[in-house]
Amino acid sequence: MSQYDVIVIGSGPGGYVCAIRCAQLGLKTACIEKRPTLGGTCLNIGCIPSKAMLHASERYEEAGHHLGALGIDVGNVALNLSNMMKHKDGVVEANVKGVEFLLKKNKIDWLKGEGMISAPGKVKVGSEEHSAKHIVIATGSDVISLPGISIDEKRIVSSTGALELKEVPKKLAVIGGGVIGLELGAVWRRLGAEVTVIEFLDRILPTNDGEISKEAKKILSKQGFIFKLETKVTGAVVTASGVQLSVEGAKGGNPEKLDADIVLVAVGRKAYTQNLGLDKVGVAVDERGRVKTDHGFKTNVPGIYAIGDVIAGPMLAHKAEDEGVILAEMIVGQSGHIDYNLIPGVVYTWPEVAAVGKTEEQLKSEGIQYKIGKFPFMANGRARAMNATDGFVKILADASSDKVLGVHIIGPEAGTLIAEVVLAMEFGATAEDIARTCHAHPTLEEAVKEAALAVDGRPIHI
Ligand code: NAI
Repeated sequence: MSQYDVIVIGSGPGGYVCAIRCAQLGLKTACIEKRPTLGGTCLNIGCIPSKAMLHASERYEEAGHHLGALGIDVGNVALNLSNMMKHKDGVVEANVKGVEFLLKKNKIDWLKGEGMISAPGKVKVGSEEHSAKHIVIATGSDVISLPGISIDEKRIVSSTGALELKEVPKKLAVIGGGVIGLELGAVWRRLGAEVTVIEFLDRILPTNDGEISKEAKKILSKQGFIFKLETKVTGAVVTASGVQLSVEGAKGGNPEKLDADIVLVAVGRKAYTQNLGLDKVGVAVDERGRVKTDHGFKTNVPGIYAIGDVIAGPMLAHKAEDEGVILAEMIVGQSGHIDYNLIPGVVYTWPEVAAVGKTEEQLKSEGIQYKIGKFPFMANGRARAMNATDGFVKILADASSDKVLGVHIIGPEAGTLIAEVVLAMEFGATAEDIARTCHAHPTLEEAVKEAALAVDGRPIHI
């Protein structure tokens, strides 16, 4: 048995970052992880392998279909899926080893196995019990399925299985037009699959700004995605050659059968609290099974905290990381704060979709008066040079104060472009502040500046 200041359960971006910050602040820290490697869902089976596949498949599509337009003839382009998978596995390996190195460097003990809170201040890993003044639950989230559909990770896969397919499916059916459905759908479409996305609601990316969702659907449809909106899946039968899905209208009616080689279920994730001993120690959870916390990440049991996907809020690695850092600082008596309105969200399709702050729909429902500034990438010189003119930047600013309330971008490098406005919004910037900031030419960032100018009706290049 060892005595720690802090034991963090889970080594995903929330957990390992929290552990490192605790160690930096002089706390004796351990991090428990049951996977053979550190890094949690994000590094092992989530963001990192997805980005490796997204990047590789983008290059494949570029070489096959887009380089010719730039005057580069590459001849026949062939896919070597097993090498692409090796690339992805190598990226994962380098990243998880990197986290292991960081824990060692910071003298954090990795307690290998499943952690269970046996009593306040006590955590069991296997038969060993450790004690800690502070216990941080950072166990993340797990996939959810639909009634009557069981994920076997072969024919009916979650994001995990979708990153391990041995061959390109001829037909891939994706249930859920959210982030995972579109990103992994994009990977397999580029590699040759016919991808049909079945979405219950009347739009894809339902939490994004409505205009952006509409534009995303238009661009992705042009690329070959097939969308079945307002449609629900009522059953799935695995056959020798694939899966037959029964689908019907979201409100019933129009029953239809849909055949696919592979079905990807991407209808959201749930907080992961299995075998943690929460009942035993009396840690309260909300109606969705998420650990309840206050603004300081404290649960109702003194000395037990929770961060990341296992608590309320967007299930995003960077949100978990920021919570981990702030919690560590609060544990040593410092103060910390996260503005949950300023957590950017990025969908890594091509083009990317990035957002921060309020959507137009939210502003309307909150009765806030706003101005809109929009600028299309079609009118941006750099985007033209890149042959990447799809999409636009949309800035929403307060009608009277001009303070930026929300920014929504669909277009090349949107995930990078959003950083500027997140920083601006952190400093309470107005659209005029962004418009008056000198932006290098020729860059995609100029589209952000032009959208800010457009808020005041004075864009130059349109
Ligand atoms: P999501 O919440 O983004 O999307 C789920 C979609 O499924 C929604 O559009 C929803 O309306 C739809 N849906 C729900 N039930 C349905 C049903 N019965 N039939 C048809 N459609 C249905 O969830 P997703 O894509 O599974 O991602 C899980 C979490 O992981 C999200 O919180 C997401 O933010 C996070 N994530 C973030 C990434 C990023 O930041 N780039 C990448 C991957 C995941």
